[in-house]
Amino acid sequence: MARDIEARLDDREYVRPPVEFVGQANCTDRSVHDRFEEEWPDAYETYADLLDWDRRWETVLDDSDPPFYEWFVGGRLNASRNCVDRHLDDRGDQAALVWEGEDGSRRTVTYRDLYRRVNATAAALRDLGVDRDDVVTVHLPMVPALPVTMLACARIGAVHSVVFAGFSASALADRLDDADSDVLVTVDGYYRRGEFLDHKAKVDAAVAEAGTDVRDVVVFERHGSAVHEPGAAPADANADADAKERVDPDDLTERDVLAADLLAERERREVDPVSRDAEDPLFLMYTSGTTGQPKGCQHRTGGYLAYAAATTKYVLDVTPADTYWCAADIGWITGHSYIVYGPLALGTTSVMYEGAPDHPHRGRVWEIAERHDVDVFHTSPTAVRQFMKWGEQHLAEYDFDVRHLTTVGEPIQPEAWRWYHEHVGGGDAVVVDTWWQTETGGHLITNLPALDDMKPGSAGRPCPGIGAAVYDDDGDPVPERSDRAGNLVIERPWPGMLQTVYGDDERFVEEYWRRFSDLDSDDPADWVYETGDGAVHESDGYFRVLGRLDDVMNVAGHRLGTMELESAVCEADGVAEAAVVARQDDQKGEAPDAYVTLRDGVDPSESVRKGVVAAVESAIGPFARPANVYFVDELPKTRSGKIMRRLLADVSNGAELGNTTTLHDPSVPERIREQVGD
Ligand code: WT7
Repeated sequence: MARDIEARLDDREYVRPPVEFVGQANCTDRSVHDRFEEEWPDAYETYADLLDWDRRWETVLDDSDPPFYEWFVGGRLNASRNCVDRHLDDRGDQAALVWEGEDGSRRTVTYRDLYRRVNATAAALRDLGVDRDDVVTVHLPMVPALPVTMLACARIGAVHSVVFAGFSASALADRLDDADSDVLVTVDGYYRRGEFLDHKAKVDAAVAEAGTDVRDVVVFERHGSAVHEPGAAPADANADADAKERVDPDDLTERDVLAADLLAERERREVDPVSRDAEDPLFLMYTSGTTGQPKGCQHRTGGYLAYAAATTKYVLDVTPADTYWCAADIGWITGHSYIVYGPLALGTTSVMYEGAPDHPHRGRVWEIAERHDVDVFHTSPTAVRQFMKWGEQHLAEYDFDVRHLTTVGEPIQPEAWRWYHEHVGGGDAVVVDTWWQTETGGHLITNLPALDDMKPGSAGRPCPGIGAAVYDDDGDPVPERSDRAGNLVIERPWPGMLQTVYGDDERFVEEYWRRFSDLDSDDPADWVYETGDGAVHESDGYFRVLGRLDDVMNVAGHRLGTMELESAVCEADGVAEAAVVARQDDQKGEAPDAYVTLRDGVDPSESVRKGVVAAVESAIGPFARPANVYFVDELPKTRSGKIMRRLLADVSNGAELGNTTTLHDPSVPERIREQVGD
């Protein structure tokens, strides 16, 4: 009998954290989960205590008006002061950011440098007329100017809205409009796989397309070797200094202003950090949902920063002495919380890499890890699968020793987990699989690495105080630890949660609360947050996340809404109707397949197909490009005319067709299968 149990445990493959790791971990307190249950929500004060407050809060949580929860009510603080100023005395000369350009240029930004740059940039923005609560849109790739601009906004109480550099002009225009943002910060261009991308041309197109009148466009210069900023340390000697060119003045419009000029005049200016209410917004981050229009997730200052700092400390196990590399893009929430706000709030050294992981060679990531002696490394399962495909020989030449590895963004297959653990972690690092969302601000389900054994494929336990649960489609809780799949929900608020959807409280309620809450109730116990994911609560108390249940797909860690993709495809010439579904993809996790019917008189052709791809690239960006475009005679629809995407997904994934009885014409999916030849 005992042997049976052992065998089963073996099956489940628990991996113990190494003793050396446990010995130094930031959280080794086995009672932490119980304490958060007993003292909820006041236990979150320990998170807020990681920050410096101008005024201490009076109430940890005001839940009198769910789902509009307020955290650390009455408290005042500034995020820029917490991420910069407060470290000057103890570690002014320590690197805050270590930056590697794709072209070989390198820069180290100490906390003192960061202080100067954030102040100069804050002064520049303020002199441009940016006021408290104004939304500044930031369309910058992975250059130091990006975190500097975010912190400069935070310093003057402005709200930043960073739009990932890979988004198209139209996507940027939508976000400018939604936020009614009249100041845009950008760069002339940047490098990707050796190619210099003309970012400014795209920005000009976005500004022309936007309905909002963009008053000022601040342009940093990246052309040549490094981001051109006065007072910047010289670029690495490898960089060709002669290549540094200024933007051609003929390319500037009357609303453009060069960052270098603005900053040169303000090199030593200091700007007092504006004391913000804990509930004042810190930033917006747009994300895709089930409708066409992206949602501006609005994050608060106090709760968000406390939650980002605490999860960085206790989940990522980062200390100020560490060099920590989160190889994500700051244009997504992962980079906001775990490249910028969390690590800098704790005073650690955060690595930023501009380019592609395989440029100019497939050992690039490990070369950087070796050069900077990276202790903690964070990436996505998509990247791990890519590294695995390239092979461990690319790691062999480089010598680095990480004690902690993180993954985020999608479930990680046990095979990829094991490869990551063995080849990147040297077999003796902990691997932490973190489940969370743009909306949640920080990790919600993941093991505290010194407390719980790792289990490949399971995100693990809810973080302290987090009320994760699984509900069935009728809205009833599935019994705990029952190993049954259902809807992953969160039953209690947490400090890092979004405040609302920017400018649209109704949509906030609609998208996240309606389905599992009693909207007429004032009792917070009746309010349950819908994540949109499916999950299993396993018998050991770990959660295995299965992926999105709604019309949202996850392509290489990028979240894409089906509706957004479909409306883009419908913009293409000749397209009558379109349905987009997720195809399982070995590398990307999921990839979009587009099923298209054409207008009368239009025949399927390569040029129509190219038009469809171009339409997606132009509406969203190249990263959303469909894997396949299938021309079909008819889409499977119910009698009431609803497209049954589920059946198309069965076709894309070579699965047996699900129930077709509700279809207007039940033979359609089979015909499509024949047509697409799968
Ligand atoms: C969706 C959120 C939060 C940072 C990156 C993505 C999926 C995220 C995991 C994980 C399984 C995961 C979920 C979630 N997801 N982390 N560890 N295991 N799935 O942020 O773009 O807001 O996407 O990513 O489906 O809902 P996002």
